[in-house]
Amino acid sequence: MRSRTQVGIVGAGPAGLLLSHLLAQRRIDSVLVEVRSREYCEARQRAGVLEDGSVAVLREAGLADRLDRQGLEHGGIYLQFDGTRHHIDFRDLTGGRTVTVYAQTEVVKDLIARRLADSGPDAIQFSVSGSEVADLDTDMPVLRYTDSSGTRHEVRCDAIAGCDGFHGISRPSLPASLPTTWERGYPYAWLGILADVPPSTDELIYAHHSDGFALHSLRSPTVSRLYLQVDPDEDIAEWPDERIWGELSRRFELPGWTLQQGPVLDKSITPMRSFVCAPMRYGRLFLAGDAAHIVPPTGAKGLNLALADVAVLAPALEALLHGDDKLAAAYSSTCLDRVWRSTHFSWWMTTMLHRTPGADAMTTQLQLSQLRYVVASRAAATSLAENYTGFAVH
Ligand code: FAD
Ligand code: DHB
Repeated sequence: MRSRTQVGIVGAGPAGLLLSHLLAQRRIDSVLVEVRSREYCEARQRAGVLEDGSVAVLREAGLADRLDRQGLEHGGIYLQFDGTRHHIDFRDLTGGRTVTVYAQTEVVKDLIARRLADSGPDAIQFSVSGSEVADLDTDMPVLRYTDSSGTRHEVRCDAIAGCDGFHGISRPSLPASLPTTWERGYPYAWLGILADVPPSTDELIYAHHSDGFALHSLRSPTVSRLYLQVDPDEDIAEWPDERIWGELSRRFELPGWTLQQGPVLDKSITPMRSFVCAPMRYGRLFLAGDAAHIVPPTGAKGLNLALADVAVLAPALEALLHGDDKLAAAYSSTCLDRVWRSTHFSWWMTTMLHRTPGADAMTTQLQLSQLRYVVASRAAATSLAENYTGFAVH
């Protein structure tokens, strides 16, 4: 039974997995606990777009073999509104920057395989229950959990990383008086499908439509990923495949262009929210990724923020373990600069592109004016392009 480690990590999403790898590269021991099974973590459908900075982080960490072979580099997106599709050319607007389409599920599979290959089958404790973190304001916080065979563990750590997503136990373990939080809900959700059909587009299409937003993304040359704006309380049972394809075809409609349809492999509804918690550190507990902040998916920032946080956290923890608190002290503010930029960008993309239920006709006109400005003004298009490809404040 393990009773001691250097860093306890709660949650084997992209943030927790990458952090345990970056720590292992620095010869720092960690215990990583995950409430779900390996199969569940590897099948969960989520984000699909990596900023070039995220690709660089994964390459530097030696994790990009499959990403470099299978990732699809995109130099722009399409914005569709008022019956016209416009291209935003990232390469031209940002001096050559791009994004890479590579599913979060694949990032997670690569990370899990690597951690288990490097550190053995105990490197990740899947299917744990009852995770708790305590003694956070001491030099030796504790991580408790019950493993999949029912044994309770109490692991003393030098530091703990809360990478357990929005609904995890880490953030609620902060003293109630400490964090300031900001939150905004949106009166809509995304119905997402994964479809066994070649994409009908070479780059992503973000479509503004009077019936609601639609997004055409992809996973590979043979698999498409599409999203539809729906009501937040929508019942997925009310959306048989034919209804989804019918709605998607209408929202993307363009003379001379057809949306190819195919078998639906996965279907889910995602609520949308902006949320930021500050500071992201209390004593020896560090929050990273969705545990500290959530963005609505428009603009594909959530996964990228999670990776960016732990790229900052790993060297900060290394220094902390050597007695130097400087980077750890700066961790929260360093991350929050990027978090707030992405929070603003995601909010801006979301409110520009979605139909707001009950909004007056003027709201729609203001959205369309903003969209026309983005495609007509190089300055406005550059702003979108540099935020989409990832804007590092520092
Ligand atoms: P997570 O991926 O949430 O990982 C947290 C991990 O902690 C999970 O594996 C969870 O099971 C585990 N955990 C939770 N509680 C405990 C506990 N008590 N003990 C142990 N483990 C625990 N972003 C985009 O950019 N585009 C998208 O299209 C998109 N779609 C999304 C769809 C859904 C349904 C959701 C929930 C998110 C989506 N996101 C999207 C956001 C993006 O996927 C996240 O920002 C990203 O997963 C954040 O990574 P993370 O590691 O911080 O958190
Ligand atoms: C995807 C998700 C997004 O939120 C987005 O803005 C672009 C693409 C995707 O899942 O592929």
